[in-house]
Amino acid sequence: MQKQRKILVTSALPYANGSIHLGHMLEYIQTDIWVRFQRLRGHEVWFAWADDAHGTPIMLRAQQDGISPEELIEKMNAEHQLDFKDFGISYDNFSSTHSESNRGMVEEIYAKLCAAGHITTRTITQLYDEVEGMFLPDRFIQGTCPKCGTADQYGDNCESCGTTYSPTDLIEPRSVVSGARPILRESEHFFFKLSSFEDVLKKWLHSGALQTEVTNKLAEWFEDGLRDWDISRDAPYFGFEIPDAPGKFFYVWVDAPMGYASSFKELCDREGLDFDEWWGQDSKTELYHFVGKDIVYFHTLFWPAELHGAGMRMPTAVYAHGFLTVDGAKMSKSRGTFIQARTYLNHLNPDYLRYYFAAKLSNGLADIDLNLEDFVLRVNSDLVGKVVNIASRTAGFINKKFGGQLAHQLPEMDLYNKFLQASDEIAEKFESRNFQAAIRQIMAMADHANRYVDEHKPWQMIKQEGREAEVQLVCTQSLNMFRVLMTWLAPVIPATADKAAEFLGVKLDNWHAIDTPLLTTKINPFKPLLTRVDADLLQKILDDSKENLKTTTTTNSATVNPAVEANSETEPLAAEINIDDFLKVDLRVAKILVAEPVEGADKLLRLVLDVGDHQCQVFAGIKAAYKSEDLVGRLTVVVANLKPRKMRFGVSEGMVLAAGPGGEDIYILSPDSGSVPGLRIR
Ligand code: 2FM
Ligand code: ZN
Repeated sequence: MQKQRKILVTSALPYANGSIHLGHMLEYIQTDIWVRFQRLRGHEVWFAWADDAHGTPIMLRAQQDGISPEELIEKMNAEHQLDFKDFGISYDNFSSTHSESNRGMVEEIYAKLCAAGHITTRTITQLYDEVEGMFLPDRFIQGTCPKCGTADQYGDNCESCGTTYSPTDLIEPRSVVSGARPILRESEHFFFKLSSFEDVLKKWLHSGALQTEVTNKLAEWFEDGLRDWDISRDAPYFGFEIPDAPGKFFYVWVDAPMGYASSFKELCDREGLDFDEWWGQDSKTELYHFVGKDIVYFHTLFWPAELHGAGMRMPTAVYAHGFLTVDGAKMSKSRGTFIQARTYLNHLNPDYLRYYFAAKLSNGLADIDLNLEDFVLRVNSDLVGKVVNIASRTAGFINKKFGGQLAHQLPEMDLYNKFLQASDEIAEKFESRNFQAAIRQIMAMADHANRYVDEHKPWQMIKQEGREAEVQLVCTQSLNMFRVLMTWLAPVIPATADKAAEFLGVKLDNWHAIDTPLLTTKINPFKPLLTRVDADLLQKILDDSKENLKTTTTTNSATVNPAVEANSETEPLAAEINIDDFLKVDLRVAKILVAEPVEGADKLLRLVLDVGDHQCQVFAGIKAAYKSEDLVGRLTVVVANLKPRKMRFGVSEGMVLAAGPGGEDIYILSPDSGSVPGLRIR
């Protein structure tokens, strides 16, 4: 028997500003199947991870919800964990990167990197939103692509022509947060000297730590040259402040992967494990990170380099997977295929999806398609029609005729041995994360088992005199094959395996236990382990997912972290609304009573508006397009019931409607002179 291995596994940390969707679940299910498989093989396995709780999107989302970031991340943590538990994700610890244990670890590692001379400072120039008083991350800037001229592109790359650029290259840039045109501002930043680790990283990547596609990608990055990595962000920022650098915070990607280690540290404290044995430079334990292909860069360059620089071990391997598509297309909110974990759980058994993902997952980076028609067919024909069917066709005879007792021998040991031979091959496929191949082989073995039942027809035999003992033997053989199949499938469909274990009267928690067949023991009454998927329920999931659009936060890209949305469709900023939503907006004709520049703001005018029954103050980013004196006395259209927003210059109590890309090309809507202030627009 193989020596017991010590294995620590992680999934990527979900951002704490949104709900878990099926794109996330693909990774967590992949991780969990592997973890459960390793446990079943008898290894010491720990699965530790956390919520990724820092960064600008989380800060802004909390602001938008009118709560503190701490409240937001606490709420999301509870919601996330409930989803994971209900999907059967068997993690040992789930923490938060905002924990004190993570802060301690980040500070300690940072101090070591500083002491070793791996940190340097430089002044950089970045786009700054004067209205919000903040530097803008690339994804919070939009403008026209400098290469192809497509409007509304993010600050890092163009979705139309694929060019990558710096946000300062964008034509007519604007802040996604306030709409204002950002200015350039200097700030001192801290950098991690990645290039010092080139040799170490090259050696590491040739140690078998990475998939071929990833190794090739890395070779390209090396060719381009490793640049220093900017690890600091200026206030306001929700994160950990850098020691001795007031107003400077660690970039979220510094403390996020540390969350793997600090979550494990919590586990060590709880379980009495020795942290250094697992994370020390000479650790003999294994460390695996499961991640999406979009974040390979962070996990194969920065993270191992940081670990090495701080005198810690590097990962044994990073396993990347592709994105989830639904019916061949990116997940789409308007089509209802942007399915949240909870929406799925409200209607369907999690084991169905776990099985389907397993049947599609290989160890490559290809995207995985959830084809809804195929999902129904596969679950019904494989799980219900093949596997569960073996037990449902034979259990009744043992229970009714033999008091639940199995025969004292297997009539066809050769057939059983075939299963045992397949067992090693199947284990190899699980080990190498080729779940698709493992499932294919398991189903082929299920076909053998069904053929055996079909050939022996216990339902006919039982009617023939003197063949009762034979029926017991045939059913014992069948139920033993069922036991083997369910043991192999236990990492994939754990809830169903638990029910099967209850029925068989033995645990299915040891891969090697199947070497000894179940003989003479008693089984329990058979209850249906799984029912067929009802296709109508899938339709309900799609309908509910469309409905979710109305109740969840807006799809404003300022509040949706791009990485979470990486495998989602880029949709127009405004979601479809119904007439009731529209009627909530109090649109009114307003008369501009006062228009004046705002000190310290290049783009803003302060307007005082007469909206009929009251006056309100609005800050509008239209200074480049209008002289303030030309505006006084004009009529415009305003959203009068917008929640007041505190800005650096005062409270803005509404929003003036305007059209155009921004800057000088912005036109306030101006009703005919026949209208009067306060007139409601319908
Ligand atoms: O891309 C993401 O969703 C990140 N929150 C993943 C972080 S993984 C790790 F490095 F912490
Ligand atoms: Zn372009």
